Amino acid sequence: MKILLTGSSGQVGRMLSARLPALGFEVREFDRANGQDVNDPAALDSALVDIQAVVHLAGQPTEAPWSVIREANIDGALAVFEGARRAGIRRVVFASSNHAVGFTPHSSEELDAATPPRPDTLYGVSKVFGEALGRYYADRYGMQVACLRIGSCSEHPRDGRSLATWLSPDDCARLIQACLGSSELTYALIWGVSANRYRWWSLAAGAEVGYRPLDDAAITRPDLDVEDRRDIDAVVGGEYTGASYDIDEVVRGSEGDRT
Ligand SMILES: NC(=O)c1ccc[n+]([C@@H]2O[C@H](COP(=O)([O-])OP(=O)(O)OC[C@H]3O[C@@H](n4cnc5c(N)ncnc54)[C@H](O)[C@@H]3O)[C@@H](O)[C@H]2O)c1
Repeated sequence: MKILLTGSSGQVGRMLSARLPALGFEVREFDRANGQDVNDPAALDSALVDIQAVVHLAGQPTEAPWSVIREANIDGALAVFEGARRAGIRRVVFASSNHAVGFTPHSSEELDAATPPRPDTLYGVSKVFGEALGRYYADRYGMQVACLRIGSCSEHPRDGRSLATWLSPDDCARLIQACLGSSELTYALIWGVSANRYRWWSLAAGAEVGYRPLDDAAITRPDLDVEDRRDIDAVVGGEYTGASYDIDEVVRGSEGDRT
């Protein structure tokens, strides 16, 4: 299967570019770092020729002034879904985020992947928008869409929180492989998380498309302390729910305007 990988030069994009070919995918890379912008319809249309599915990672991955979020995550997501539709591409995997539901408390009960929106930032709001776009393109145009509420996708678990939220690079590739190969997919919200023993999130929706994670942050980083999660971890979004991720703080600390 030939796929377009947007955001291919980013953290997650590089992990996937390194792994998906070995899983049988021909990957066409697309990233602003290489002069390709999803908001440039001509560039996107030519990149979508002969492509069977899109994995859309490109975007602003943290809180930022609205003008930045809007251009990268709102306009950008619409451009990609619309470009895929124009090109007759039936399947899109969209990188959403746990911050779409960041103010949701977690408990000993695993949270379902279809937990209702409860964004913790404008960034999280933009991910809710992307999920809604996916639902819309699935319902109106019959596209097959998987929205992945990714936890913390990094080479290694970094801190106590990631004992719950880590998505290993190999499991990330397994998840994309499952979403691209599933005959069951119509529209799905799926937690992007490894088989962490301390996870807060259910693997059930992933299992429905054939995702079988193999990694566990507690095995990869036995030195991390599961108790070291403090009160920030009473809700899913962790530090994103705190004052330093308040948009006023972000705008004060940047050159961007707030529109
Ligand atoms: N890394 C994580 O743990 C994590 C967690 C939750 C969600 N996500 C989501 O996964 C995706 C990838 O995250 P990441 O950590 O690799 O971020 P990243 O910033 O490392 O990569 C994003 C890439 O997108 C590119 N990009 C941005 N705007 C673009 C545009 N208009 N056109 C083309 N390319 C553009 C950037 O150049 C960059 O290479 C993002 O959508 C992010 O919100 C990541």
